[in-house]
Parts: sequence; structure tokens; C-alpha cells
Amino acid sequence: MTSEDLKNAAEVEDRREESDGAFRCPDCGGALVEGTRGLNCASCTKAYPIRDGIVRFVTATDLAGRDASFTKVYDLWGRFYDVSAKVWAGLFHGGDTRFRGDVASSLEISRGYRVLETSIGTGGNIPYIGSFSCDLDIYGLDISAGMLDKCRKNLKKWGIAARLCQANAAALPFEDDYFDCVYHLGGINGFSDRERAISEMVRVAKPGTVVVISDETPKMCYSVALRSIDLDPPVDMIPEGVEELDQREAVDGTMWVIKFRKPA
Ligand SMILES: C[S@@+](CC[C@H](N)C(=O)[O-])C[C@H]1O[C@@H](n2cnc3c(N)ncnc32)[C@H](O)[C@@H]1O
Ligand SMILES: [Zn+2]
Repeated sequence: MTSEDLKNAAEVEDRREESDGAFRCPDCGGALVEGTRGLNCASCTKAYPIRDGIVRFVTATDLAGRDASFTKVYDLWGRFYDVSAKVWAGLFHGGDTRFRGDVASSLEISRGYRVLETSIGTGGNIPYIGSFSCDLDIYGLDISAGMLDKCRKNLKKWGIAARLCQANAAALPFEDDYFDCVYHLGGINGFSDRERAISEMVRVAKPGTVVVISDETPKMCYSVALRSIDLDPPVDMIPEGVEELDQREAVDGTMWVIKFRKPA
């Protein structure tokens, strides 16, 4: 990284200190106030602790169904995810750069944008959603503490500032109309409630914002276990009235990509 990149990262970090108002209660939508150990909802009084700088809006014990089972897997996998994902991408997607770059080419990012990646995992897409020197205000959300722990370490190693939180993509802890870009890659096929996760991505996007959602196609999912989850692109779950709705296959047909714009 150049000194210019580091300066930009520091400036983004300064701005992030001022932007605490982004969060709202994922349960009732109420305003959050700072307490001694985290954030407290002013309406329903629910408390959300902050650990390692990450607000914990959900914990593994709150979950049910597929969300609970996948979270258990990802919590254990977090430490090894980067190596195994690179091997997987090398074997089936023509390499990590090609895989992440092809899907991310659908994004529309400009300097200064406030970007949300839901299911950020260990942060592998962050270098692809705008160059490191691009002045972005990055938010990353994931349901797995194990994946977020690795993500926090990766971002520190890369010198990239981002605000992370542990939450369910189907109950986003953000205000309406807040982000200039909303991105999701690689988790939604296994979500308990895909439709709600999509409507949440639309809710938090500013009017006129592009939303990009992607996951693997049946071509990629050979195992019996993965055959039990939904692999078809959820175009029928995209809310009516969105603009420029487009669906494509990427990375040699191994990924589906849905892109649309929230009406201005
Ligand atoms: C295959 S990984 C992809 C991670 C990252 N997007 C990437 O491209 O490397 C799927 C991620 O989805 C997260 N996830 C699964 N269910 C979720 C949910 N309901 N809400 C938020 N994240 C979820 C997992 O914890 C995991 O980090
Ligand atoms: Zn509340």
C-alpha cells in the first residue's frame, strides 16, 4: 500500500468514529443509545454488547433452522476459510481473482460511497469492491462470530477500515435508505429466509442505489447436502417496482448474479 492509501484508510476510520448513528434495533427498529457494555434499544430495551469492536446484534443461540446449522459450520470454519476458499476457487472458478472480480464487475462504486456487504465472511471481497485507495465507507455484516473474527484480523493486516457487526441478513440493524451500494456474495442460497434478506437489502439502500446479489448455481453444487438448499436465483423474490432488473451467469455459469436499482 502507498502512503496515500494509508492516509485514506485513516480518514475513513476518523469518519467512521462519527457515524455511530447508522445502527438501529434489528428487532423493533428503535434508536440505539450507548450503554456501558454496548448499545441499548431506547424502545424495546434490548441490549447489544460490543466485543472486539463488533456490535453483536445476534448470537448463535438466537438462531434456528438453516441459519443455526450454517452458523455452527462457519464458526468452526472461520480460521481455515481463506485457504480453503482459495483452493475451491482455484479448482472450480478459475482462481480467486477471476471469481471475485467477475461477480464484483456488476457493482457501481464511486469515491466516498457508503458500501454494505451482507455476509462479508472473512472479507475476501473487500479488495474487489473498489481499489484500496478508493475512499469508501465500508460496512460488513455476518451472522458468524468465527468468520467475523478472521475478517477483523484480515482488515487490520490489509490496513482497511470497515465497520463490522454480527447480525442476521434477514434483520439488518441499519436505518432505511442508508447505503450507496449493497452487495451480497455467496451465502443467500442457505439463508432461512431469502425473501426477507432481499427486502432488507432494498430497505437499507438509498433510492437510486444498485443492489447486487450472487451465489452458486446448481452447476457448482455437487454434494447431496447442498442439493437440499435452494440453488435457483431468487428472481421471483425481488420486490416489484425495482428498476433495471438483470440476471446473468458469471464465472463460466458457476455463479448467478442478480442486479437491480432501487427506484429513485
Ligand atoms: C460462503 S461464505 C461467503 C463469505 C464472503 N461473502 C465471501 O465471498 O467470501 C457465506 C457467509 O454467509 C454467512 N451467513 C450465512 N447465513 C447468514 C445469515 N442469515 N445472515 C448473515 N450472514 C449469513 C456465513 O456466516 C458466511 O460467512
Ligand atoms: Zn428494540
